[in-house]
Amino acid sequence: MKVLLTGANGQVGRALQACMPNGTDLIALDRLHLDVTDQLDVQRIVDERQPDWIINAAAYTAVDRAEDDASAAQLLNADAVSFLAEAAAGCGARLAQISTDFVFDGQSELAYKPADRRGPLSVYGSTKMAGEDAAGAEALIVRTSWVYAAGHANFVTTMLRLMKERDGLRVVSDQIGAPTYAGSLAKVIWELVKGGKRGVFHYCDAGEASWYDFAVAIQEEALAIGLLDRSIPITAICSEEYPTPAKRPKFSRLDCSATSEALGRGFPDWRDNLRVMLKQEQALG
Ligand SMILES: NC(=O)c1ccc[n+]([C@@H]2O[C@H](COP(=O)([O-])OP(=O)(O)OC[C@H]3O[C@@H](n4cnc5c(N)ncnc54)[C@H](OP(=O)(O)O)[C@@H]3O)[C@@H](O)[C@H]2O)c1
Repeated sequence: MKVLLTGANGQVGRALQACMPNGTDLIALDRLHLDVTDQLDVQRIVDERQPDWIINAAAYTAVDRAEDDASAAQLLNADAVSFLAEAAAGCGARLAQISTDFVFDGQSELAYKPADRRGPLSVYGSTKMAGEDAAGAEALIVRTSWVYAAGHANFVTTMLRLMKERDGLRVVSDQIGAPTYAGSLAKVIWELVKGGKRGVFHYCDAGEASWYDFAVAIQEEALAIGLLDRSIPITAICSEEYPTPAKRPKFSRLDCSATSEALGRGFPDWRDNLRVMLKQEQALG
């Protein structure tokens, strides 16, 4: 199976390369080697390489910046997906597109199922929703949430830095979701690709947390392995006390039961995966 991977240097792009299944002919291209917003380049490279699958891990992921940069977010998160979908269709390839819990409005009290009504609250969420539509009916769409990996800028690495620099932290406790380790997400994406799946699938690590719960767990687990050497007070605050340019869903837990059924297995707990990632972060120094 020949797979063209875009956005190869991102958290998910790197994780996909790290757990590529045996027998995969992987062409992993970062932004420098394939700018997915350049339709001619997308078409040329897909024509040249003739992949069986394109996995699009490129995205505009700066949720707050997108509020003032909507046209760039639209170009990367939606228009580029239509370029990839068109190029894929032209050579009989399948497209795997990664999407987000931020396509939902967070008003539900139950974990969101793949077919639930979407209602994004932010430019990022709207452009990712447009990207899902641009990917087309034949595409595999994997929605995920709160992604982190060692060696990248994300909530975990930001918290670790702030926990070293500051004497206390205030973290939002009224947004509930599920932290997701990029390594586990990548394995699921490969399994879905290998299974030839189409349609929308949800994947996040098992369990749920608020950002406050996540921050407390990061500190506890980092202290336990000596990645941090002192504990600081972490205070739970509400979203109104930490205004951000982009509105975020209050509840964005994804129901992954259909994915679990399709793959015939359960998924790791977010806190177990956090321990795995912190050890990797420690090893990176
Ligand atoms: N991070 C999250 O919490 C989260 C949550 C839910 C869903 N997702 C989705 O998961 C997917 C992967 O996210 P991630 O966390 O891996 O994001 P990431 O670390 O920000 O990676 C995105 C990658 O896209 C690349 N890129 C930017 N513009 C590009 C262009 N024009 N052409 C080609 N590549 C370009 C970036 O390159 P540079 O490194 O050069 O900037 C970066 O390597 C995205 O679809 C995202 O929406 C992420």
